[in-house]
Amino acid sequence: MAINESQFNFPEAELVKQTEICKNCKNIVVGKGNANAKILFVGEAPGKNEDEQGFPFVGAAGKNLDKLLQNVGLSLDNIYVANILKCRPTENRNPLPDEIRAHTPWLVKQINEMKPLVVCSLGNYATKFFLANGIVEKMDEQPGITSLHGKVREMDFVGLKIKLIPLFHPAAIIYNQRLLSSWNADMEIVKKEISAL
Ligand code: URA
Repeated sequence: MAINESQFNFPEAELVKQTEICKNCKNIVVGKGNANAKILFVGEAPGKNEDEQGFPFVGAAGKNLDKLLQNVGLSLDNIYVANILKCRPTENRNPLPDEIRAHTPWLVKQINEMKPLVVCSLGNYATKFFLANGIVEKMDEQPGITSLHGKVREMDFVGLKIKLIPLFHPAAIIYNQRLLSSWNADMEIVKKEISAL
């Protein structure tokens, strides 16, 4: 059972709490950073460290993300970070469609409150979720991160005008250092978009 779940008592959180992964996790991982920022980074799901500490991207992928952000002068002061899923899937397996369906209304609520102008989707799940405009049934038919990374797409997401910039997942970069030059080039694009805000 999630230890901090009693503090969340709105409908979107109730949906999350009904999922099996929430019943088995230690923490509901909501997000971190500056909730007034204009830039939102969205990953996939909490892992073991995130589940234990209650914050996204605090494990190996998170350390890499911190470093990669620091390289371009970004920190948690000027971005917010969240995930598609609020709870850790058992054994770090991929998110299931029903879990995405149940967990993303909370993410959408966060987006509606935050109103980011730039959304950087990290990896395939987050990218496909935004491209499918939050419609889980349409995620499968979206192109993958390899063809989309670094390409800015102006879109209307749940009634908000955002610039979506898909990026490789920082965990993928740990395992495949050849992605690093793409990440660096993509971050130059992010920087340019941010400086124009
Ligand atoms: N990977 C993610 O996608 N999110 C986290 O919070 C940690 C690792």
